[in-house]
Amino acid sequence: MSDFHDDLALLPGRGAQTWIGGAWRAAHSGRTFAVHRPATGAHLADVADCTPHDVDEAVTAAQQAWPAWRARTAAQRAQALHDWHAAIVAHTEPLARLMTHESGKVIAESRGEVAYGAAFVAWFAEEARRAYGDTIPAPSADRRIVVIRQPVGVSAAITPWNFPLAMVTRKVAPALAAGCTVVLKPAAETPLTALALAVLAERAGVPAGVLNVVPSSDAAGIGEALCADVRVRKLSFTGSTAVGKRLMAQCAPNLTRLSLELGGNAPFLVFDDADLDPAVDGAIASKFRNTGQTCVCVNRIYVQAAVHDAFVERLAARVAALRSGDGLDERAQVGPLIHARALEKVQTLVADAVSQGASVVTGGEARGGLFYAPTVLRDATPAMRLAKEEVFGPVAPVFRFHTEAEAVAMANATEYGLAAYLYSRDIGRCWRVAEALESGMVGINDVRLGTEVAPFGGVKHSGFGREGSRHGMEAYEELKYLNFGGI
Ligand code: SIN
Repeated sequence: MSDFHDDLALLPGRGAQTWIGGAWRAAHSGRTFAVHRPATGAHLADVADCTPHDVDEAVTAAQQAWPAWRARTAAQRAQALHDWHAAIVAHTEPLARLMTHESGKVIAESRGEVAYGAAFVAWFAEEARRAYGDTIPAPSADRRIVVIRQPVGVSAAITPWNFPLAMVTRKVAPALAAGCTVVLKPAAETPLTALALAVLAERAGVPAGVLNVVPSSDAAGIGEALCADVRVRKLSFTGSTAVGKRLMAQCAPNLTRLSLELGGNAPFLVFDDADLDPAVDGAIASKFRNTGQTCVCVNRIYVQAAVHDAFVERLAARVAALRSGDGLDERAQVGPLIHARALEKVQTLVADAVSQGASVVTGGEARGGLFYAPTVLRDATPAMRLAKEEVFGPVAPVFRFHTEAEAVAMANATEYGLAAYLYSRDIGRCWRVAEALESGMVGINDVRLGTEVAPFGGVKHSGFGREGSRHGMEAYEELKYLNFGGI
């Protein structure tokens, strides 16, 4: 039995099972894989290790459940989602603890993620009833033209470890609201939260086969099986750009519809007319959220020369005071990295920057296990690897700029385009720069981008498609045009 028995109570005997066609059962292979706590390395649970065989069964279950689910009224689907939402909210604490165990994020952030993730379920329950179509003035008097929205069908969701709950609900809720059924492959690092969500969906009365969960240690094999299955009409993926490109190629033969939320390299511009304290607050909130492991985390901080030194001084003082620790410790503000590869990448990027002239103002060292000290680097330059690559760790490199044009050029000098941030009190500059930045989202004097009410997504190599907002259901809907003649 796990040492964390109480915190696994949402999954009585189910950690090692799949959820396919309304039944909890072992993976076809009979194999399991281990899930560990990043904070301590302790073994947390063994989880069913699905193979393409299980994917086939899950797609069959989703395909069979689809006609009845899409035939429900929008209000009936909405009710199931409202019940799921209520169950998630009622289990905030166990879900948050589970998430902290398996992802390492600090408990306050895990509680925040339960609220954030649940909000997508409530939002799309409401949107289900607003899947409006169009009536269009016809080109001749004897015709009427109407456009309706229909569910695309079986949808696959592949979700990342950095938001084990919210990325599941941000995909599953709009799919279910639109009348689709889902096969979900959660990240191998964090499958327990996804399985707990399935337990709550079952309790909320989501019918058998409408949501299916296939955890696996073989992400590539499961992705390939989902793309190859012609019955899967839609794939939504959040994760790295490299994997997104591979999935896109694998989806091409079946023309499977895709939404891709991929890597980022977010610039954070501080102009000399900015209020510095809110800018420092914003940089810390965005840079150190989830230990720097979000796709919208600030990756490059550009500060105008006149305020550069003052900004670095204030930022470094605040960062030096951040407390690292096991996320279950209520005092911890920064947790561990997810795995050894992530830690090695952070160390490599910092070493590269220092070898090219960056100075460590605070931090700059590993702290045992998977912990890395919250770090500020100054004198960063575009030649350094961390200017071009996503650090995905608690490292804030500061660059200096002189003019607005230079800042925009440096910010856009990346293949990515997910989030960007700017701080200025000049409203004209805010508009100009926000419009010039090549990204799907811009935070202006505010870094809180993620919300169920706004469209989340990127441009360039950060992918395409939008999640959340009234646009979030479009990914799971086909438009059908009806042309009535003889009127
Ligand atoms: C992500 O890192 O992919 C999601 C971040 C968010 O939803 O705020």
